[in-house]
Amino acid sequence: MDIAVTVVLSLVLGLIIIMYFLFQPRNPNSPPCIRGWIPWFGAAFQFGKAPLKFIEQARIKYGPVFTVYILGNRFTFVTETEDVLEFLRSKETDLDEAVHQALQRTVSISKESFQQNNSTFFKLIVQQLSSSNLHRFSDNLCKQLHEHVEHLGKEGSEDLNDLVRHIMYPTVMETLFGKRFCLTTEEFERHFQNYDEGFEVGSQMPELFLRNWAKSKTWLLNVFERISTDIKKEKSSESGSKTLIQHVLDNLHGNGVSGYMLLLFWVSQVNTVSGAFWTLAFILSNPSVYKNIMEDIVSVYGKAGEARIEVFEDDLKKLPSIKKCILEALRLAAPGVVLRKAMKPLKVQNFVIPPGDLLMASPYWLHRNPKYFPEPEIFKPDRWEEATLKKNAFLDGYLVFGGGKHLCPGRWFALMEIHMLVIILLYKYQFTLLDPMPKQYLDLFS
Ligand code: HEM
Repeated sequence: MDIAVTVVLSLVLGLIIIMYFLFQPRNPNSPPCIRGWIPWFGAAFQFGKAPLKFIEQARIKYGPVFTVYILGNRFTFVTETEDVLEFLRSKETDLDEAVHQALQRTVSISKESFQQNNSTFFKLIVQQLSSSNLHRFSDNLCKQLHEHVEHLGKEGSEDLNDLVRHIMYPTVMETLFGKRFCLTTEEFERHFQNYDEGFEVGSQMPELFLRNWAKSKTWLLNVFERISTDIKKEKSSESGSKTLIQHVLDNLHGNGVSGYMLLLFWVSQVNTVSGAFWTLAFILSNPSVYKNIMEDIVSVYGKAGEARIEVFEDDLKKLPSIKKCILEALRLAAPGVVLRKAMKPLKVQNFVIPPGDLLMASPYWLHRNPKYFPEPEIFKPDRWEEATLKKNAFLDGYLVFGGGKHLCPGRWFALMEIHMLVIILLYKYQFTLLDPMPKQYLDLFS
């Protein structure tokens, strides 16, 4: 066939596919759908460039429920708090169904291993990190935090996020995995950061397109494989009681255990590091809050300075002002999305969401609902009343830890960790922010 004819035929065929894709008849009961211009990719580029801005603009244009077609999947965003609470409680939605493909891609857990181990893994984390179990971690956590804070020396200037990361990575690894199995070298940090930065794209795209990211993933999986072999060889732990990872290794079976170790390390770090960073950033950029917190710390531990203070789990109750700042910083800087899969047709507002759709909620935007959080853009730690903290409860509409039966099982551990880090750092150092807090932190998240 003539080359010109072939080119024209290909163009016409391409055009037909694009037209079909763009003008597919819409079921009047389904939410409006943003399809983008490119078949299969859909709106991936527009969404990927600035996800939070994209969600907000789409909400203004299309209303509170809309579907976005991305990389062959239908993501339906639900933006009203009440609707989100309903889908989180619904029996017609499922988390495992929503994440198993993503887990296969991000931590190489096969479908078989997922079916065999997933519910055991999550039950173990829930059990081990329950609020009544926290005292088992607190001594060790405090000790490791001090050890890594000491590496900072007496004075200096550093990027706040790097500072938090350098302390948190090894501290958490030593606490959850055991000191002897902590491998957070510079090379580890580099690969882990590369892996974390590509995690969301990696959860959707075949590895083929993400060579560098896949390299870091394989490197990390090999490290965790080695650690798991070492831990299994050395059954008895340092303190005589099992670490969290020993419980995991004793109860999971077959291949894929290193994937679960990487998963555990990732979930234990990403949101906690950013939560600690934002808590410190908000405190330091609000002089009256900083001053009050220092007065509270001094009232519990004496004059701030060099001494190595013992921070016990019980002490944290004496410093509710810091817990309020943590919860408020997490409200304003809530990371990520909450995700479920619709297993049956699901009614939301006047729409019926078809089974198979991935339901998405953004805590960042939900936390800006003035009905639940008056003056939502303002950092107001005092919106958190002590009675709420004492009950170990959160404010209505607060979804930073998700909800329903999959509510984050690491939440009490994460809050304790950030609380201790903030006390130890503020007690030991006087901080001055070299750059002002950005007024629009949305740009940072995007
Ligand atoms: C500030 C820190 C943290 C934040 C903001 C956070 C947030 C979240 C969110 C939003 C979810 C999804 C919940 C849902 O789908 O309803 C989740 C799940 C989870 N988180 Fe966290 N998390 C934090 C720290 C941690 C830590 C420290 C650990 C473990 C050491 C952890 C372990 C997990 C696990 C295992 C799940 C999956 C639960 C399930 O599938 O049932 N998280 N977290």
